[in-house]
Amino acid sequence: MFFDRIEAAPADPILGLTDSFKNDKNPLKINLGVGVYQNAQGQTPVLNCVKEAEKIILETENSKSYLPITGLSEFGVLARELIFGKDSELVNNGFAVSCHCPGGTGALRIGSDFIKQQNVATTVWISDPTWANHYQIVSMAGLKYERYPYYDRVTHGLAFDKMLETLQQAKEGDVVLLHACCHNPTGIDPTVEQWQELAEFLASKKLLPFIDFAYQGFGNGIEEDAQGIRIILEHCKEVLIASSFSKNLGLYNERVGCLTIVCDSKEVGDKVLSQMKIAVRTAISNPPAHGEKIVTTVLSDTKLRAMWEDELAQMRNRIHDMRKALASKLNAAGAGDFNFIVEQNGMFSFSGLTKEQVERLKNEFSIYIVGSGRICVAGINENNIDRLVSSIAAVIK
Ligand code: LMR
Repeated sequence: MFFDRIEAAPADPILGLTDSFKNDKNPLKINLGVGVYQNAQGQTPVLNCVKEAEKIILETENSKSYLPITGLSEFGVLARELIFGKDSELVNNGFAVSCHCPGGTGALRIGSDFIKQQNVATTVWISDPTWANHYQIVSMAGLKYERYPYYDRVTHGLAFDKMLETLQQAKEGDVVLLHACCHNPTGIDPTVEQWQELAEFLASKKLLPFIDFAYQGFGNGIEEDAQGIRIILEHCKEVLIASSFSKNLGLYNERVGCLTIVCDSKEVGDKVLSQMKIAVRTAISNPPAHGEKIVTTVLSDTKLRAMWEDELAQMRNRIHDMRKALASKLNAAGAGDFNFIVEQNGMFSFSGLTKEQVERLKNEFSIYIVGSGRICVAGINENNIDRLVSSIAAVIK
């Protein structure tokens, strides 16, 4: 027998919750687990700009033949414009090379495969806490990981000094995995001054930044959310960036992400691109086209681009309003001081709820949040917020 020794794996800490939620018969159930935007009606509709782009694609597409291994070159240019800014030399000077990967996860995995295959590094430093999938992506690629402290549970802020203190132990050439904005799960991002200090630190220690950029546009804006990466690039000549269009274009199941590797010259960029192609070819051969064409159409069409920016701002603002409402209603319910929630960025709120409280919310109230206490604020609306607040207050008291 080959398979009888295999042990059952635990359910995925995030996507496994969605499965449990679907099986829950309680009509009042609330899913605040997975990071998926829901509108005020609790739906996750296709963005209008995406619908418009799909109409264009449907009319103009005349072949389903393979895309190039790294995807359409226009897609790479547009992805780099979002990361570096339209006027950045890195968009077109060949120092930065990109490939379309299946989602941000695909970009993280292809990037990790590349690091392993090219003997770039052996150890990746990961924030504690972080997105639960980071650990296994890195490990499955054959890399080791270490943790650096990130969140101060007492102040509900960034444990910046402890983070740098721990990263002092990193060896020259190690990789440091960072979240560009809307840190998942804490929602706490470095300030501009902290990015500056971090960038200088990484450069002086000769550490390689690998930046997860899954939430561009969900923090303070498209340009604002790229600021940390741009500061890092002022100091570090080589950087990997895993960006995602799952959230900001709502293309979750189309799996559109992009791995961008910034090199110190075009000559190195060309070589890295050639090896990147091997990493993609061996993992997925070449990328799926539909989502990539949507992104390319929306970002390159002036009207659709404006529509997208508007729709993204609406999502960002609704989340922000819900964040404020959640904090003030929890405060009013006597559940404690939750003003810190308003300071957090992006889709999530790191609530401070314990594992036991999270379990009670699920078992007694059919409210699903991640075991770390991470609440997807994008799943809160006028219809469920009062029930959510009274349930949280009940498990806290
Ligand atoms: C999340 O953190 O909930 C999202 O990134 C979705 C996922 O794949 O985990």
